[in-house]
Parts: sequence; structure tokens; C-alpha cells
Amino acid sequence: MQFNVGGSQAIEDALKLVRKATGRSRMLAFQGGYHGRTLGASAITSSYRYREAFGEFADRAEFIPFPYPFRSPHRGDAQQTEDDCIAEFERRFEHEYTGTWNPKTGRSEFGAIFVEAVQGTGGYVIPPKNYFRRLAAICRKHGILVVDDEIQMGFRRTGKMWAMEHFDIQPDIIVFGKALTNGMNPLSGIWAREELINPGVFGPGSTHSTFSSNTLGTATGLAVMRILGRADYESSVMRKGAYFLEKLRELRAKHREIGEVDGLGLALRMEMCEADGFTPSRRLADRMFQLGLEGDLVIGSRTLGLVLDIGGYYKNVITLAPSLEITTEEMDLAATALDQVISRAKQALH
Ligand SMILES: Cc1ncc(COP(=O)(O)O)c(C=O)c1O
Repeated sequence: MQFNVGGSQAIEDALKLVRKATGRSRMLAFQGGYHGRTLGASAITSSYRYREAFGEFADRAEFIPFPYPFRSPHRGDAQQTEDDCIAEFERRFEHEYTGTWNPKTGRSEFGAIFVEAVQGTGGYVIPPKNYFRRLAAICRKHGILVVDDEIQMGFRRTGKMWAMEHFDIQPDIIVFGKALTNGMNPLSGIWAREELINPGVFGPGSTHSTFSSNTLGTATGLAVMRILGRADYESSVMRKGAYFLEKLRELRAKHREIGEVDGLGLALRMEMCEADGFTPSRRLADRMFQLGLEGDLVIGSRTLGLVLDIGGYYKNVITLAPSLEITTEEMDLAATALDQVISRAKQALH
């Protein structure tokens, strides 16, 4: 375990760890993935937008497609999407001409693959159930480490402590941040298998920052861990998530512009589309966002606003990450507010 300050810095530490342990500096990562904005972290983040102005610095990752059933050629067929993505990944190791693998030495050019169990900034895309198990098996066979970026989904956002626990694999390195201190004070860190991080391999001074392991951050982190230990968040988050998802499904039945809703625990998505229910509609999501901020939704006797978060490959996904303490009444209220905002946004664009 090694602490640092922000999420991106912990990603840098994970990169150093992989480079030291494997002697390799090239990484695999996903299209739609997000790992931060420092030079190293943006080199393994797929958006060129974050790198364009700053020149070449670290080795840029090779970005492979994330299994995104709704937008795959198999449109909604999770099993076919999983099979295709796995077959494509497997083909990289068939011969040397894929630029991945040297069959003579049995080595890959890539030290690790960086994954988010549920893509965060990418729009809360939830992969098919067995995808990661199959991916990790191929990686293990070819000496590629698996780095699990839990910065956005860790600490019970999806019910489990780590989102990857839903997918039944054991990563080599876990990176965490954000919710560890519940937004109060920066603290991040990495956990790794002992043989990768023990002082003989990753000695003292391998990484450091004045404020890593800072007192306020570690005290806050401990307080958060105690709070998380006090109740059965795994069950409550799954129960609340299922309820909220049901509400979103009801909205989808009412508005054909909602192409897809999905969720894992309290990480939920609502993909806004044109009237065909598939063509991404950034303008509808943007209009919903603006109308929410106007603060004049009338719900019962109250006048309210709605602050939305938009993500996704086409910036058309409403991503919902409510407090783990959200109540049923608050979820009902949110669904009513969303319903109003969608109706008004459709009307405005009509
Ligand atoms: C999955 C993931 N990785 C890394 C980061 C970067 O963390 P930070 O913004 O603390 O540098 C983020 C931030 O949103 C993230 O969601």
C-alpha cells in the first residue's frame, strides 16, 4: 500500500510500479477510459483532447474497445458483445504482426492493462458479467498485469467495496482515491500484490509527495472507513440501486428518447437519444442540464432545481451517483424531477 494525494498521482504511482516490476513502459487501456490529467495519466486516457496541446511525454497507451453492449454492433446483446471483444483481444496474441506479442520470447510489449470495472467518465458503462474474468485470464497467460482503477467506483458506490468484486477477478494493483475521504480532503493510494510493491522491488523513495499520507487525509479516510463498517452498505446500496433503476425504467417506458438505462448499485446511467431511441442526443442532455439549473421545477408544494452530471462517449449520458444514504422519498423526488426536465427539454427542442 502506498498513499498519495490525488487520483492522478496514484495512477502515476501505479504506472511506476508496473514499469519497475515488468521492465515495460507501454500499457493497454480502454477507449472511453479515464485515468486523470497528469502527463502519465492522460497518456493512458483515451481522449486525445486531454493530450493535444501538451506534446508527447509518456508512452501513450494502446486503447482497445470496451464492451458496451448498447452501442456495440450487436446492439444490446451483452453475450455477443462480450464474445466479440474477447475474440478481438485474443487475436492480438496469435502472431507477432498485431504489435502486441513476441511468440519467440513469449513476451508482450505491454506491462499492464488499466481498467475501470464500470467506466466512470465514459458514462457508467457496465460490461457483461464474464468479460473481465476472460480478459484477466488472457492477460495472466501473457504476463500482462491488471491494474484496477477504482478511483470513481470504489468504496461501495456499486455496493461492493471495489466494483471489480462484481466481476470475480483479482487484480494485481488497485488504485483508489475520491470517496476514501468523502470529498473532504485529498487522499489517494495504491494497493498491490506483495511481490510487486515490497521494499526490495519498490523501495523507499520510489514515490513521494509532501502531502502523501497527510494527517488530515488519513484521519478522514479512517473516519470514512469506520462509517462504512457501521452498516451493511452492500445490501442497502444494492437495494436502493435496484429501486432507483426501476424508477429509471419507468421513465424509459414513458420517454422514447431514453435509449438505455442501467445501473450497478448506486452508479446509474440514462442515455439520452433522438426519438429513434438510439442516435445519441447531446443537445437533449445539454438542455436537460440547463433546465435543471434554472431551479423552477414545481414538485408538490416545492420549487426545485436539479443538478445533473453528463458523461459518455457522446456526452449524452446522465450519470447518477447519489449519496449512499439516499432515501426512497429522495429517489421518488429525483424521478419526478427527471421526468419534468425531460418533458420540458423535449418541448423546448421540438
Ligand atoms: C476512474 C478515474 N481515475 C482517475 C481519476 C483522476 O482522479 P483525480 O481527479 O483525483 O486526479 C478520476 C477522476 O475523475 C477517475 O474517475
